[in-house]
Amino acid sequence: MTPRKIIIDTDPGQDDAVAILLALASPELDVLGLTAVAGNVPLHLTERNARIVRDLAGRTDVPVYSGAEAPLERGLVTAEHVHGKTGLDGPPLPEPKAPLAEGHAVDFLIDTLRREPAGTVTLVPVGPLTNIAMALQRAPDIAARIPEIVLMGGAYFEVGNITPAAEFNIYVDPEAAEIVFRSGIPLTVMPLDVTHKALTTRARVDAFAALGNETGRMVAAWTDFFERFDKEKYGSEGAPLHDPCTIAYLLKPDLFTGRRINVEIETQSDLTRGMTVADWWRVTDREANAYFVGDIDADGFFALLTERLARLP
Ligand code: RIB
Ligand code: CA
Repeated sequence: MTPRKIIIDTDPGQDDAVAILLALASPELDVLGLTAVAGNVPLHLTERNARIVRDLAGRTDVPVYSGAEAPLERGLVTAEHVHGKTGLDGPPLPEPKAPLAEGHAVDFLIDTLRREPAGTVTLVPVGPLTNIAMALQRAPDIAARIPEIVLMGGAYFEVGNITPAAEFNIYVDPEAAEIVFRSGIPLTVMPLDVTHKALTTRARVDAFAALGNETGRMVAAWTDFFERFDKEKYGSEGAPLHDPCTIAYLLKPDLFTGRRINVEIETQSDLTRGMTVADWWRVTDREANAYFVGDIDADGFFALLTERLARLP
């Protein structure tokens, strides 16, 4: 079977790191590159972290491009309170083994989408949508060439994690999110509604550590660090593995259930900036623009994740 070509747009972040590792461990996927965006931490750290994670997978061949250092129209909001000052707090971090690829992430997105046959490159954004929106603004022709965008962002029943109304990725750059959600490109959305059901537990983290490889040790240390914020805030047992839900969906879509609905982005109100207004109950006649995922087989998700991480160094 021909591997599915993807580009992961990312702001590592411990959960981004697990998503990248899952993708690089899976032969069903061909990761053409990682594009870094400012989000959890500033860009100089997210691009560095993306290089560290690809090294951990033994994949210095996968290019990392540096992208947008700030949202389209607003100041950057970061989340060191969740991810630590490096963005990958938890274990000691090695130095990246290889440099950034030459060129801007947005140019890489545009050039790759224009070069590869139409309909063959799926975008997987797991941070603020600034790079994706910039690419669509600069090269509107690429929209018709993108078969699907599978993104982590938004919330409906779970409401917000950075404000009472908004999830972080959308909140940071709501104008970018509006461009993506109005692009007409088939969207699959992993909101907090589903990612808050992909929770680590002691047993699940111990299973990572028991893999006996460096990947397992790093992922166990990252999830141990990452979980303290959500345990304190939500009283949950562990950390929600937000971003890996996108990759798991590409590998095993049957692990997830959702609805095709309309989702609009709040960009005008300061109070509800970045809210994903999801018409889950279809009370409007607004056109469905997203497959909005609400549920997950969490045991199946962690079994897949653990089995794939075992394949890495
Ligand atoms: O709200 C969760 C999202 O924000 C995840 O992608 C996490 O990595 C942060 O970027
Ligand atoms: Ca992220």
